[in-house]
Amino acid sequence: MICVNAERLEQEIKEMGQIGLSAKTGGRTRLALSDADKAARDLFCRWLRDSQLEVRVDPLGNIFGIREGTDRSAQPAVMIGSHLDTVKDAGMFDGAVGVLGGLEVLRTLNDNGIKTKRSIVVADFTNEEGARFEFDMMGSSFYSGAKTAEELYSVTDDYGATVGGELERIGYRGNDSVSAGHYIELHVEQGPVLDAERVQIGVVEGIQGLAWWRGEFIGEANHAGSTPMRLRHDALLGAAELALEVEKLAGVIGNSSVGTMGRIKPQPDVINIVPGKCSFTIDFRQYKPELLVKAKEEITRAVEAIAAKRGLACRFEKLTDVDPVFFDKVMVEIVEESAKKLGLSKRRLYSGAGHDAQFLARRCPAAMIFTPSSGGRSHCREEWTDFEDITNGCDVLLHSVMKLAIINC
Ligand code: HGY
Ligand code: MN
Ligand code: MN
Repeated sequence: MICVNAERLEQEIKEMGQIGLSAKTGGRTRLALSDADKAARDLFCRWLRDSQLEVRVDPLGNIFGIREGTDRSAQPAVMIGSHLDTVKDAGMFDGAVGVLGGLEVLRTLNDNGIKTKRSIVVADFTNEEGARFEFDMMGSSFYSGAKTAEELYSVTDDYGATVGGELERIGYRGNDSVSAGHYIELHVEQGPVLDAERVQIGVVEGIQGLAWWRGEFIGEANHAGSTPMRLRHDALLGAAELALEVEKLAGVIGNSSVGTMGRIKPQPDVINIVPGKCSFTIDFRQYKPELLVKAKEEITRAVEAIAAKRGLACRFEKLTDVDPVFFDKVMVEIVEESAKKLGLSKRRLYSGAGHDAQFLARRCPAAMIFTPSSGGRSHCREEWTDFEDITNGCDVLLHSVMKLAIINC
């Protein structure tokens, strides 16, 4: 049975993992549209061209490598995708496994002289993480038509740089387009299930929904020594109370809800000044649409109640709002059948993390393949997946794609 080239795949994941690497921490940082992201893009495009794949770039900087099919009248391409941008101080697997796994599938087909009726495309989607430009799955939200380029070009980072300006600066603001008839994504689980149960392949049935907010409480800066507690309007305490309210809400909403205040920044951030301002972010996620709606209402209510109680003003804006997604049953079965054919242990599960497949599923039947994450860790330098597991996942990807792309016998 045909299989991918495990050594080549491991070597390329490691080489890509060197880009943005900090010798000090051992983690890598490739924030979207940064110089490190550009270097990753350039390396990926070189590998695409070395593999005789046509390279296209769309208006949001999404990169596509195209392997032409033999039958022009066949359905639109089978697309394999994920992302090369990372969060801060990240591991080398989140996103890269899916993009380089997709490239490895195309290379394996080339090595074995296998022709397919349908074209096959491998994609690197822009700003999946949302770590710099706080709108995650940005490139795939454009590709699926959920957002326009104009809406996204004006999104800024903490320093006022815009998505549109940064795409120009790194030379990845294209004009091309690519159609997809099916989408499939290989990704590390980033959760504890497969590792704890020693299962080799995750057959993903869907992804939970998420909502992100950015806000700021505005109180009164004052002297930390001479201002009695009863006269204070301490903005940091407002944000701190909100963080605990979000934690409590996850328990009240239940059904495995998760809520996080990932960023909190008091101003003026001086030891002997009562914080007059405090900015913060909230990330809340839930699998059931109706429970996510309830959580969003409760969060807005909590912000208003805390501001009123503490005599604070408040700025509060939604950054992104993504519905839960349930993958096409036929696609899920194709993944499951491929794992079975390869003799790999497998189990169905849902994804706690967001992925580009969440938007692609709006445009065409989509599915995902998970490989175990050691200790369930991700979005940290400790992230690790054994290369044998990655190879297994890539073989499942290969056989699923071959089934979809229709081998030219
Ligand atoms: O936040 C997420 O779930 C994804 O890693 N962007
Ligand atoms: Mn990812
Ligand atoms: Mn991620």
